[in-house]
Amino acid sequence: MDRIYITTPLYYVNAEPHLGHTYTTVIADTLNRYYRAAGHQTFFLTGTDEHGDKIAQAAKENGTEPKAYADRISNLFRSTWDQCGIAYDHFIRTTDTYHIDFVQTVLQQIYRKGDIYFGKYGGFYCYGCERFYTEKELLDGKCPDHQKEPEYISETNYFFRMSKYQQPLIEAIQSKPDLIRPERYRAEVLAFLREPLEDLCISRPISRLQWGIPLPFDAQYVTYVWFDALLNYVSALEHRAGASVAFFWPKANHLIAKDILKPHGIYWPTMLMAAGLPLYDHLHVHGYWVMDSAKMSKTLGNVIRPLEMKARFGIDSFRYFLLREMAFGQDAKFSEEAVVTRINADLANNLGNFVSRALAMQHKYFDGVVQPLSASWAKEDVELRDRFTAAEHDLKLQMEELQFHRALEAVWLALDHANRYVVQTAPFTMIKDESKKSRVGEVLHHLLEVVRTLTRVLAPFMPDTAIKMRNMLAIDDDSLKSPWGQGFSAGHKVNPPKALFPRVIIPETGRLEFTS
Ligand code: MSP
Repeated sequence: MDRIYITTPLYYVNAEPHLGHTYTTVIADTLNRYYRAAGHQTFFLTGTDEHGDKIAQAAKENGTEPKAYADRISNLFRSTWDQCGIAYDHFIRTTDTYHIDFVQTVLQQIYRKGDIYFGKYGGFYCYGCERFYTEKELLDGKCPDHQKEPEYISETNYFFRMSKYQQPLIEAIQSKPDLIRPERYRAEVLAFLREPLEDLCISRPISRLQWGIPLPFDAQYVTYVWFDALLNYVSALEHRAGASVAFFWPKANHLIAKDILKPHGIYWPTMLMAAGLPLYDHLHVHGYWVMDSAKMSKTLGNVIRPLEMKARFGIDSFRYFLLREMAFGQDAKFSEEAVVTRINADLANNLGNFVSRALAMQHKYFDGVVQPLSASWAKEDVELRDRFTAAEHDLKLQMEELQFHRALEAVWLALDHANRYVVQTAPFTMIKDESKKSRVGEVLHHLLEVVRTLTRVLAPFMPDTAIKMRNMLAIDDDSLKSPWGQGFSAGHKVNPPKALFPRVIIPETGRLEFTS
């Protein structure tokens, strides 16, 4: 049985859900739906990261206790994903008791093994990043991410012997070229590993921070937030079902953006080695959504809220934009104009128009009843079918590489071919000649096969739209899978078309650009 385990990062609860979080969650949901439809057993995990300085400070600014604050924002994430139709299997919170227990068990185990030791450390600490910086890493003495001077802190702490696993990690990455994808991020991790790896400080004294998981072997310290949070990927599986770790863990596919490559490409695999667990199957790293060439974050403004996007454009249209616009691995620019352009051109004018024309003609000419196909097909009919078969194959290859934009492009190229087929066969002209009526019936049958194929292939990307399309075709999920020409039984009647995509308005002008 094929299986896959898909994870998103656990989002910090110091900010509300925004475009960046939405992108990773949407691609995870799309992958999960894709593999589930392909017959895989899947498990899809998301959740929230709730301990550490960042959260303690955010709670303080809000005048609340960290737990109450985390409850509120974590619920906001969960309800946002629910309202966006994200079909996760489990939502983990790092404050869940089972997770805390798991972290303490692993810490104890690694401590007993001798891979955690007590030592003194001094360094430049950035509260925003929650990590120490070496002098070399600072830019003009400031944290390159937060443009703030870090504080010099010297204290005794516990350290994880990460250096011990440097060589095994290099070997693991070299022996499995697709462990970290795309290649440029693998190269980045390997480049980092060319320098000697320092041990990782994994504790914070409670005199400075209480909001964390207590170290099981020293109550004067709490666990560094990354050492706690990364373990979620295993603790969640163990919590859900005892057998899941053995079943799903070897097929773990982590989805992250480039900002957290180091914890996932270095800390996490060395932690797994120390804990005696196999490495994840793949780490998939995407680029950043940028606005006006500035990094998007709460501190810098420009927050794009998923629920606002849903209200404005419809969730499937927004999903389509995210999946089609970003080349996985590279940065992409976000603007409302780009969203509107994509929706109007690809969805409203192209896909929506095609579906409504096919169904409208079926109703107008045959009262919705699908007409039989003759035994021998015209050359253009065979070509149309082959074009879609090839597109579906291409889509599969692109999905294996997480190239969502290319997968969708392949479908739209086939749709272009289908549009040409309509022009070429011109059923609306042929229908005027009674002797050609049975040919019109065949042509429309093929157009409905296009709609049926589109419904099947687009379902992981735009699940609600696929349901609407399937309802218009009046078929069940099983019939969606039938080969071309066998999707509709004799005398099957399709429903009349309904508009698929909501109206889109150009933001600056308020002008109505397209009415579906
Ligand atoms: N809590 C850590 C992750 C722990 S995982 C065990 C964290 N949280 S975060 O809230 O900052 O989320 C970072 C992730 O959000 C990125 O890796 C990415 O998935 C997503 N994005 C946040 N902003 C983004 C963009 N502007 N563009 C694309 N995705 C980005 O780091």
